[in-house]
Amino acid sequence: DHNKFALPVGATLDRFIMRKQEDFPYATGELSQLLRDIALAAKIVNREINRSGLIDIAGAYGNRNVQGEDQQKLDVIANIRFIRALRNGGEVCTIVSEEEDEMIQTGNTQGKYIVAIDPLDGSSNIDVNVSIGTIFSIYRRMSPTGTDGTAQDCLQPGTQQVAAGYVIYGSSTMLVYTTGNGVNGFTYDPSLGEFFLSHPDIVSPKTGTIYSINEGSSDSFSEGVAAFVAHCKENNFSARYIGSLVADFHRNLLKGGIYIYPATKKAPQGKLRLLYECNTLAFIVEQAGGKASNGRRRTMEIEPDNLHERCPLFIGSTELVEKAEAFL
Ligand code: AHG
Ligand code: MN
Ligand code: MN
Ligand code: MN
Repeated sequence: DHNKFALPVGATLDRFIMRKQEDFPYATGELSQLLRDIALAAKIVNREINRSGLIDIAGAYGNRNVQGEDQQKLDVIANIRFIRALRNGGEVCTIVSEEEDEMIQTGNTQGKYIVAIDPLDGSSNIDVNVSIGTIFSIYRRMSPTGTDGTAQDCLQPGTQQVAAGYVIYGSSTMLVYTTGNGVNGFTYDPSLGEFFLSHPDIVSPKTGTIYSINEGSSDSFSEGVAAFVAHCKENNFSARYIGSLVADFHRNLLKGGIYIYPATKKAPQGKLRLLYECNTLAFIVEQAGGKASNGRRRTMEIEPDNLHERCPLFIGSTELVEKAEAFL
């Protein structure tokens, strides 16, 4: 009967956030408000992504970002939308964005939170209608309120995250996040403008048979990485690599698997950024029972030195990450 597909009433993101807030008796609702601000920006960016072919916002913007990448128009648009939503929301004092060289001071000097964000992940896939995403981490500032956030506020290890999440703009648009009490997934219904709880308490399979790595770089893999990839092939794994970290991660989170972005000749520290890609997904995967490391150290324990530092990433089902580490 159709009832089994009916969502429980009140399963909207807003009500979920409110209900979860009861878990934090001393919470003053600021983190809840911050999560709502992020969800609002996600709805706006989602609409622009879904129309990008129609309103000439596809293609390159014509600038290079601090990463040396050619910014796409949607990179810039998503960056502006999220920074504006966080500035207007009032809860965030300082933002680190992949698309901004320096940390951005919002002017909300009373804001207690720091956000590190990859406004649009998978930029190379924007104009070819392949899933892309947004990735964000939330930290509590350590510096006193009444001032701008400091670099030290922004360079906390991943273990200090108070929340982490991603949006995946795919065949459906989903918001997946954790505040340290498990991982929950919400699916967006554009006709209602609401996110609904669709994946409560996500637990990732302990193992799997999917491996995600760009084998175009295999000539510069370390011996250990090459040996693990050979192991996957010997054991009839499926190779699945979309080229959008969020999409590859989300599939492996739900189905089991491992995603690896190792050190390569072109990216000696790996390509992915510690603050707003590796740490964010590491928090989520650990909350779902998985594992994340740089091959040797737990990702979330790495002490960041600079805002855009890169690190190798081995992330996914615990057994597969440990198997890969054993080869390194
Ligand atoms: P971004 O678009 O935010 O710069 O991130 C791109 C990343 C990640 O999404 C993806 O997994 C990876 O780049 C793909 O890199 P390669 O094309 O080198 O495999
Ligand atoms: Mn980029
Ligand atoms: Mn990215
Ligand atoms: Mn990006």
